[in-house]
Amino acid sequence: MNWKARVTVQIALFAGILGMIPSAVMATAQVAPAVQSKLALMPLPSSITQSEGALTVTPASGVGSIFTYRYDQTHDVRLEAAVKRTLLQLGRTCGGDVLRSTVDHPAPANPSLTISVAGTSGPVQTVNEDESYQLNITPQGGELKAATDTGAMHGLETILQLATNERGACVLPAVKISDTPRFRWRGFMLDVSRHFEPVWVIERTLDGMAAAKLNVFHWHLSDDQGFRAESKKFPKLTGLASDGQFYTQDEMREVVAYAWARGIRVVPEFDMPGHGTSWILAYPELSPEAHITQLPVVYGTPTAVLDPTRDSTFKFLNTLVEEMGKIFPDEYFHVGGDEVQGKAWLSNPQVVEFMKKKGFTTPAELQAYFNQRLEVILKKHDKKMIGWDEILNPALPKTIVIQSWRGEASLAEGARQGYQGILSAPYYLDAQKTSAQMFLADPIPSDTTLTVDQQKLILGGEVCMWAEQLNLETVDSRVWPRTMAIAERFWSPQSDRDVSDMYRRLRINSLKLEDVGLRHISAPEIMRRNLLLERHPDALDVLASVLEPVSFHERYEGQHTNGLTTLNRLVDAVVADPPSRQQIAGDVDALAGNVTVPPSDPKLALDLSGDVSSGAAPSPEMALDRLRQRFLSWQTAETRLLEGVQETPRLSDAAIRAEQLGEVARVGLSALAYLQTHTVPPAGWKARQMSILDAAGQPSALVRFTFLHSMRKLVLAVSQTEHTGAP
Ligand code: ACM
Repeated sequence: MNWKARVTVQIALFAGILGMIPSAVMATAQVAPAVQSKLALMPLPSSITQSEGALTVTPASGVGSIFTYRYDQTHDVRLEAAVKRTLLQLGRTCGGDVLRSTVDHPAPANPSLTISVAGTSGPVQTVNEDESYQLNITPQGGELKAATDTGAMHGLETILQLATNERGACVLPAVKISDTPRFRWRGFMLDVSRHFEPVWVIERTLDGMAAAKLNVFHWHLSDDQGFRAESKKFPKLTGLASDGQFYTQDEMREVVAYAWARGIRVVPEFDMPGHGTSWILAYPELSPEAHITQLPVVYGTPTAVLDPTRDSTFKFLNTLVEEMGKIFPDEYFHVGGDEVQGKAWLSNPQVVEFMKKKGFTTPAELQAYFNQRLEVILKKHDKKMIGWDEILNPALPKTIVIQSWRGEASLAEGARQGYQGILSAPYYLDAQKTSAQMFLADPIPSDTTLTVDQQKLILGGEVCMWAEQLNLETVDSRVWPRTMAIAERFWSPQSDRDVSDMYRRLRINSLKLEDVGLRHISAPEIMRRNLLLERHPDALDVLASVLEPVSFHERYEGQHTNGLTTLNRLVDAVVADPPSRQQIAGDVDALAGNVTVPPSDPKLALDLSGDVSSGAAPSPEMALDRLRQRFLSWQTAETRLLEGVQETPRLSDAAIRAEQLGEVARVGLSALAYLQTHTVPPAGWKARQMSILDAAGQPSALVRFTFLHSMRKLVLAVSQTEHTGAP
């Protein structure tokens, strides 16, 4: 091997090509394995060239071997703080003894990393921020260049994803990256009204967002179930309508500063004129209805609306927008606007009279009137309006942004009418879709009928996390790591659609997200331990590893959750789209890759297309062995769980799933035995196995199995040769 030869491989970002990247070769033989593995960048950069060799920083073995950095040109305090955080995190990956900060003046002559930022960002990040960066790592050192601190911070996140620890050395593979986001608006929305999340949960969420290169935190601060933002002008909003769970103004400023320090804008949402029960409980004069005496416990779409016929309503809103606008410096202000029920308006004679006078025949026209007056208020306070897709109305100026939640069609419709928009409909995390399904949903799909100019109006998208079925303990496992897959859709080129490679990188980055403080893996583990106490948590872990929550609506039907429901059942202790789906699919594919599974009965619980394996295909022998071990562990878990759940009332609904796990294990072991011995199963075997799998697909315990598609495939592979009884 000629270690000096530099073979450069242009990595093209379209399906299939990534799987063919030749292993890079290390400059130092001892650390070769790290770079022989594929890179795990997420989101994928827009352009990357990988070379042979790596920048290897070893622990204090001599001058120049410690990681050092230097700023060229300018930088501001937030970049300095971001570099410090990067070093701390690199220290966790590589060992703290390889790091040095610029506190060691003078700046080193030959630093490991030179950071060149052309100009500092303004005090308020805008939607047009230049977020691009270039990163060039060679065995001699790295160079990070960006137009703004925001771009440089994205580059630092990329460095963290590149770094591996090999035998005590910190290794950054030689790469040349030129990266810029596809969409300007890459958001994450969190509802803190239905269930409140404390500041420390918000802040670790922002850390996860920074790792995923998301740049807008949309904070859903008010809804029927609570008003969460302290107003000094209207103290009853939180005094009467928050149950004491709200953010003080200092806390909100802290969150804004924390987000800004990570290149994230904060867009507050005050949902109006509907979803307004909390407002009206505090200030009944805002409403045309009879008084409200308490916050609603039951979820749904209450009828409470603000009264657009009174000037006093707009006076109130003017004061509130002015006050909140100072706490939230972003140019956008989210006014909600969703699910406005006309009932309360139409049942009030004074409102009906007002509508008649204005010539309005529908509540939608009255809402457009409300938004027109609200928009004038926002403008007066230097804010632009963003709202859910119900605000789309030609009466409103083209400066507003439409957030599409009722389907992709409303986004396209807005763009055709000349309105900017962001897409959220496919990214509702509580729909419990897989990472793959959401990753493949594109704000501008390749078959879009929008013109090029209309496409420019699509600013991006937002992941949405509603909180009816969410609390402090479950928020991370519902949000992560799936949000990272969607973040890639918002950042990376449209042609990036390789689901297997996405899952490979997602699994690696999921672990890294725990390292930045998220608890999406460990919190459900703790909940499972609490569920089963010290009895047999391992058995519950085995069961949970192949279960995922049902969709919002299915859970709502099955449990009727409300604000008083304790969210501590089996469904809360399982994670969305767990790795088992791909792991089992990969092993089954190694044995039965050529088998096609017909669509399952639509009456059965949603069997999300399961055959998305990830990683290198195992040999048939290895796959068979792994599956056998897995099925045996399911059988053991069944026995232990059936002992344990009897004494744990909260787990009573898990018994049926435990029994099914054992039954499916026996299906699997039986299939493997036929495969291994090349024996033909007797007539009727397939029908019996399929009926067991169908039963396991029935709704139960608010959870569904992740393996049904793969298990059907395994049974079909065996039964292709089933004895038919014919001579
Ligand atoms: C919404 O989901 N009601 C915006």
